Amino acid sequence: MRILLTGGAGYIGSHTAVALAATGHEVVCFDNLSNSRAEVMDQLETITGQSIPLIVGDIRDRTSLEQAMQSHAIEAVIHFAGLKAVGEAVARPLIYYDNNVRGTLSLIEAMIACSVRTLVFSSSATVYGEPQYLPLDEIHPTSATNPYGRTKLMIEEMLTDIAAADPDWRIAVLRYFNPVGAHESGLIGEDPNGIPNNLMPFISRVASGRLERLSVFGDDYDTPDGTGVRDYIHVTDLAAGHLAALGAISSHNEPISTWNLGTGQGYSVLEMVRAFERVNGVCVPYQIADRRPGDVASCYASPDKAKAELGWEAALGLEDMCSSMWRFERMLATSNSPQATAT
Ligand SMILES: NC(=O)c1ccc[n+]([C@@H]2O[C@H](COP(=O)([O-])OP(=O)(O)OC[C@H]3O[C@@H](n4cnc5c(N)ncnc54)[C@H](O)[C@@H]3O)[C@@H](O)[C@H]2O)c1
Repeated sequence: MRILLTGGAGYIGSHTAVALAATGHEVVCFDNLSNSRAEVMDQLETITGQSIPLIVGDIRDRTSLEQAMQSHAIEAVIHFAGLKAVGEAVARPLIYYDNNVRGTLSLIEAMIACSVRTLVFSSSATVYGEPQYLPLDEIHPTSATNPYGRTKLMIEEMLTDIAAADPDWRIAVLRYFNPVGAHESGLIGEDPNGIPNNLMPFISRVASGRLERLSVFGDDYDTPDGTGVRDYIHVTDLAAGHLAALGAISSHNEPISTWNLGTGQGYSVLEMVRAFERVNGVCVPYQIADRRPGDVASCYASPDKAKAELGWEAALGLEDMCSSMWRFERMLATSNSPQATAT
């Protein structure tokens, strides 16, 4: 298939581009580079041996989306583009509604204008709100505890209405748990601007000395060691989940389906820190800080529906997550060093 990846230069988009290119799909990335760099396309070429086009554009610009879809005869869209920092969303909610909700509306309109009705959407486990039971399955009630989550929920509801109005749509809503790790080459990974919001990029930066110490937010939760438990999923497994979902909806009768992409296994913050230290032979100094408002004690997926309906399940474990993350961090250190630039 010829597939447009909005946000394709970003963390999950770039890994999915690798997985799609490896299975013979034609990929076009569409990204405004607000949280990524054009150089990632060179890394993708090194990994895949293929030159993947990047169209620099904003999803709120419907005309450039339509041009991109028409000129590449696009058949399906995987929609990663979005802002994702919860703290920023609380402080500047309108930017999130504008970028995420209005951006998705513009994308849907452009897809309709180009007669493209196959869509995979990046949602999040955040739409489950405070867990009422664990593991979280897809029928768990949804709610949002912050504006970022609300944008995901609004988009899910919008997609449900669109699919109800026009049964020709084929939509996969993928609720990601906590994506971590990097491509095995170490050439692409997650390198957020500023102080990372997510645990693993933070751990990597502390291990490499880019940050002084990790703050562990709360050690008095009702979990085995008191720190928060999350379902970490290797980004390569997540990318494979998109392939499986795209295959399933292309041959499905349902206009819209929802799947969790997680492992079903929860690890605490301190378990992640110790695993990272053990696997990579490094030291990650940390301090215990106050709980963050809105954080829950434990959150992990039931991956059963994805396994049964997509034939997909996560294959990579903690060791791969930690080692690939560290390989990517060292690659960043080498490419940013004056010596590397000089040679
Ligand atoms: N990484 C996570 O922990 C996580 C968890 C659950 C869901 N998600 C969702 O998955 C998607 C991808 O996340 P990611 O981790 O790869 O983030 P990312 O920031 O690395 O990638 C998003 C990409 O979208 C681009 N973008 C943002 N707004 C755009 C716009 N208006 N027009 C065009 N491009 C735009 C950014 O430049 C970036 O390259 C997001 O929608 C995010 O909300 C991520």
